[in-house]
Amino acid sequence: MTGKFVTFEGTEGSGKTSIIAQIETYFKSKGYPVLSTREPGGIRISEKIRDILLDKNHTEMDPRTEALLFAASRRQHLVEKIAPALAQGMLVLCDRYVDSSLVYQGIARGLGVEEVFTINKFAIEDAMPDLTIFIDVTPDVGLARVFKNKNREVNRLDLEQRDFYKMIYDGYQRLMRAYPDRIVGIAGERPITDVATDAIRLIEKTLAEK
Ligand code: TYD
Repeated sequence: MTGKFVTFEGTEGSGKTSIIAQIETYFKSKGYPVLSTREPGGIRISEKIRDILLDKNHTEMDPRTEALLFAASRRQHLVEKIAPALAQGMLVLCDRYVDSSLVYQGIARGLGVEEVFTINKFAIEDAMPDLTIFIDVTPDVGLARVFKNKNREVNRLDLEQRDFYKMIYDGYQRLMRAYPDRIVGIAGERPITDVATDAIRLIEKTLAEK
């Protein structure tokens, strides 16, 4: 039996991490085998790639280098962690996946969605999510949340301009229109528990599909 692969997308400060934690708790309490993960997912090769990507000093990084490194990190995390869990029939909840690259590198960095999808197809082969949930939080609300959270370390990508965040948000809207069967948006400017409840309903529908 193969499991189900659910990914979560959103702008910074969309609350993905807390929402995923609640979803994980819910499905575990129902007896489902669940793997909750995020790139680089504790995979040592992917962790090293991530260190290069998020280093504040790497201001000279070329956008294509960035896209290739995200794809490389994704590949290793997929092979070592996600694919084995799916093969065991687990429900895999992944915080960001290929759509993050399509939006951040493809749209915001201007590399083109198709080009970035091409290198990602090489990386993931046919391992596309069964369902992608976009937590819809507008850039201003998301940014306000990020900078209110003093414990959060500001990384290189956080330092980008507000326009960049707006592009990310609009990019996700574009992807939702392009892949309406796979990507579903849920209103994220609500209490976390309400958002998680909506996400759980969507995942239950996916689990019920063959
Ligand atoms: P992280 O601290 O994990 O952000 P978040 O909590 O918002 O998920 O940092 C990951 C950053 O990398 C985030 O700004 C999004 C960006 N990113 C890409 O640009 N491309 C990608 O393919 C992925 C997975 C992330």
